[in-house]
Amino acid sequence: MASPRGADLTAPTILRAHGLVLRPVVASDEPAVARAMTDGEVLQWAAGMAVLDAPPKDRATVWLSARLTAWSTGTAAFAVTDPADDVMIGYLGLRDVHRVPDQAVAGYWVTPAARGRKVTARALDAAADWAFSPAYAGGLGLHRIVLDHVLHNVGSCRAALRAGFAEEGVMREAFVEPNGKRHDCHLHARLATDPSARPFD
Ligand SMILES: CC(C)(COP(=O)(O)OP(=O)(O)OC[C@H]1O[C@@H](n2cnc3c(N)ncnc32)[C@H](O)[C@@H]1OP(=O)(O)O)[C@@H](O)C(=O)NCCC(=O)NCCS
Repeated sequence: MASPRGADLTAPTILRAHGLVLRPVVASDEPAVARAMTDGEVLQWAAGMAVLDAPPKDRATVWLSARLTAWSTGTAAFAVTDPADDVMIGYLGLRDVHRVPDQAVAGYWVTPAARGRKVTARALDAAADWAFSPAYAGGLGLHRIVLDHVLHNVGSCRAALRAGFAEEGVMREAFVEPNGKRHDCHLHARLATDPSARPFD
């Protein structure tokens, strides 16, 4: 969606940084998405209610179809890929871009086989650097990007901290599972004026 404060999100954006390529999600990502949508942790913490409500055989299609049109509705939906083969190894989304002026909300997952290589921190840092850059430089002109995770998702917490997203507090009972179980969440945010990410090695 065009914004007076930042770049037009409908323009396809490809980011190359930290040994990764972040490019728009495409229909041919379906096999990777289908594998991710069978992982218990992705389903529990990152897939979203629409996916969980769908029959298991339809979950990848439901997830994918929303991301294929996301760029025109305020979400930068990036497939995180390995530059060697363009295969999707994770997802990094910036949603609600400029819904609150100059701000967005980050969400992510990594396929189980690709975990343990700090893919999230690398992708978050690449997306933040782009999103904080001004429109004239091809960025979104954001000032603040937030994310949150349930308290016991330590991997998500540490990835956020490494990517420069400082912990700001606890959001009480902010995450609700389909069975009604509620979880407290950490809120993290990175500002355009904050220091960069810590090294990824
Ligand atoms: C959270 C997730 C995206 C992180 O994947 P990743 O980028 O491969 O993360 P890594 O395995 O490289 O770990 C990142 C950091 O967390 C630490 N970590 C990972 N799992 C951990 C665990 N179970 N306990 C403690 N620390 C853990 C790593 O040591 C690393 O720490 P460091 O950067 O300080 O050295 C991935 O586990 C995932 O997709 N989970 C399911 C979906 C999800 O939870 N998404 C986020 C919703 S908020």
